[in-house]
Amino acid sequence: MEREITFEEHTRELEPELARLLVTIADMTVEIRNEFPHRLMGVSGTNKYGEVVSELDAWVNDYICKKLAATGLVRKIYSEELVQPLLVREDAPFVVAMDPLDGSSNIVTNNPFGTIMGIYRKDLPVTGENLAASLYKLYGPITTLVYDAGKGVHEFVKHRKGAAKYCLLHEKMKIPEEGGVFGLGGEPLEWTPEFLRFAKDLVKVHKLKLRYCGAFVGDFSQILHKGGFFSYPSSVKNPKGKLRLFYEAQPMAKIFEDAGGATWSGSESLLKTKCDDVNVRTPLYFGNKKIIELLKGVKTVAHKEGE
Ligand code: AHG
Ligand code: MN
Ligand code: MN
Repeated sequence: MEREITFEEHTRELEPELARLLVTIADMTVEIRNEFPHRLMGVSGTNKYGEVVSELDAWVNDYICKKLAATGLVRKIYSEELVQPLLVREDAPFVVAMDPLDGSSNIVTNNPFGTIMGIYRKDLPVTGENLAASLYKLYGPITTLVYDAGKGVHEFVKHRKGAAKYCLLHEKMKIPEEGGVFGLGGEPLEWTPEFLRFAKDLVKVHKLKLRYCGAFVGDFSQILHKGGFFSYPSSVKNPKGKLRLFYEAQPMAKIFEDAGGATWSGSESLLKTKCDDVNVRTPLYFGNKKIIELLKGVKTVAHKEGE
């Protein structure tokens, strides 16, 4: 019987400080998951986007910031839930951008949600090509962690066969040649007519099956494993879509493109998108290369009435 490879063993070949930071992030999981049942309904205000912040959003954000600061490896933390970046330690090697809890509206319905993190050596704003590592955790029926530190995309599962560690589930992941599923966020009647037609072809032409769970990390995991297409597109109400370039799109675009997929912002790869505003939203299109190639010929960017 093959011995399980743990996350610590798998990251051992990386530069030691990056490995230690990644292992610290992985080791936060049990205490974070243990908090879920106690903070299901509470609201703790609104964030810089004017969105409701659940009590769990705030708790997870604070918890992760404290644990990252304690490593001595993090210079600055940018978070969807922090109005200003947290200055931690001037001489530390890494800068972290995170969505501490993605899909938090799924908590009360017990649907998947997770954590997204991008790790840089340079300060933000920089393009996603500067990512030293990306990772996400998916809190579902099982807890999985996917990371990419420039040597492939690898997935781990927590507590496999009783081991308290993350054990390797899939190594050097590549999305399937042929897509299988699709998920689309937002309001279809607000999309451009051209994108609505493209969306219908996902069923009619590409024969994809609808899989949408309302949390980016969960919807991302569907296409990472099955191939296909996911988008939270531009709409008339929100021409820049809903998801955040630095906290959600960039880190996940690194993982998806390194797994053989393609990403699109409406005008370029999400790894090449330049913006000085670290809180910017972006339309987001992830898919098999041939689907994204077809999308490039479609008018996806909507405009507010009269603009
Ligand atoms: P967050 O909980 O970090 O605000 O992210 C929620 C995002 C993303 O996870 C998901 O794709 C999208 O919101 C769902 O938006 P709708 O509720 O508009 O479908
Ligand atoms: Mn999110
Ligand atoms: Mn969030």
